[in-house]
Amino acid sequence: MNGLHSDALVFFGATGDLAYKKIFPSLQAMVKRGNLNVPVIGVAKSGWTLEQLRARARESIEKHVGLDAAAFDTLSGLLRYVDGDYNDAATYQAIRKELGEALRPVHYLAIPPALFGTVVEQLARAGCTNGARVIVEKPFGRDLPSAQELNHILRKTFTEETIFRIDHYLGKRPVHNMVFFRFTNALLEAFWNRTHVESVQITLAESFGVQGRGAFYDQVGTIRDVVQNHLFQVLTNLAMEPPVRTDSESMRDEKVKVLKAIPPIEATNLVRGQFRGYRTEAGVAQDSQVETFAALRLEVNSWRWQGVPFYIRAGKSLPVTCTEVLVRLRRPPTVFPTCNPEGNYFRFRVSPDITGAFGVTVNDPKEKMVGQQIELLASRYPSVEQVDAYERLLDDAMQGDATLFAREDYVEEAWRIVDPVLKATTPVYEYEPGTWGPAEVDQRVVPPGGWQNLVVTG
Ligand code: BG6
Repeated sequence: MNGLHSDALVFFGATGDLAYKKIFPSLQAMVKRGNLNVPVIGVAKSGWTLEQLRARARESIEKHVGLDAAAFDTLSGLLRYVDGDYNDAATYQAIRKELGEALRPVHYLAIPPALFGTVVEQLARAGCTNGARVIVEKPFGRDLPSAQELNHILRKTFTEETIFRIDHYLGKRPVHNMVFFRFTNALLEAFWNRTHVESVQITLAESFGVQGRGAFYDQVGTIRDVVQNHLFQVLTNLAMEPPVRTDSESMRDEKVKVLKAIPPIEATNLVRGQFRGYRTEAGVAQDSQVETFAALRLEVNSWRWQGVPFYIRAGKSLPVTCTEVLVRLRRPPTVFPTCNPEGNYFRFRVSPDITGAFGVTVNDPKEKMVGQQIELLASRYPSVEQVDAYERLLDDAMQGDATLFAREDYVEEAWRIVDPVLKATTPVYEYEPGTWGPAEVDQRVVPPGGWQNLVVTG
């Protein structure tokens, strides 16, 4: 933890989509929990008034989480609004005025990265960055050079301890819980290494398409949208060494070490797919080569993991919406001729339910020495999280706790790993919506024992 609680929250992009979907509901929840009692200054260029912003906040909260009359009342009282162009110095004078006595504001840039430079520079010029923190949204660049450039822009005004790069996957409790579960149970450590683990597969499947975000998605694709950030965060939590302390830097040091051990992905270890119908989505180019599905294999060349293949698969318009990790162990030797055990595995499900389970072989009760695969459930919770990822992250940033944010070196290492395949022109294969991606996956990028096609039950 670094320093005192922020004493004002300024958020850019107040009339935008992210504010509507995520930020207002999180703000109400923070008020409800007693964690927000400072001015909240929305900034945008929409020609709105404060009353219009309040109405938008109400509508957003009603739609997404339900209104809590008392908490919303308090939030309304904390809300301020500055309407103005991000290039205009007067906008920042107005923000300075609204900040009043605040000494430690946090500026949340829920705006396209192309605007970061202008906004940060203008904030500094207007005297709004002294003692301040800054929260930046993903995507953090589109390759290594652009991420370095963004870091350079931010570092001209802010120190690394005051920069909070959001990856909302880090705010999900089950993702962080992987680290907790691994390092509070000696059991796992005994087999969590190259001697026993045969392969690791991580799947982020979504049963929906691009949901009206075609124009955005067609500039990005699956690797940039969820692999380089969200799924690498899951991977580093699975593969990291125990931190020597639990402060943010000790934790983040271990995660960066994992990425440093990963060589750039090779084009031959990647299959990209695009669901049939994607090119007719609004905002998508008719001849788009952007992937809506990716399956890839990488190596973590560390003492613990060298030789163990890690597989990542993510896509839109797949059969289910589910994020899950499967760690398969090597098979034991066969002793009973009638039983060929499938081997053990450990399964972590992040969503829609939160599950940890061990796969084991037992004797089929009806047969003599015939194996049956069952699961020992370590835990299973319904999907609903008490604290939404955005609420947790905003709260942490205001307290100065950077543990659940991506550090500069982490982001750059992550881009280094995917950059070569982003530059290579690999084919994009069509797949039918509602299937597990193109057939080429099962020929080219397939874990030992195959992909585990996830099933979601009510
Ligand atoms: C976002 C991506 O960062 O993460 C989306 O832009 C994706 O395309 C989403 O659907 C997945 O996150 P969650 O929390 O819905 O699993």
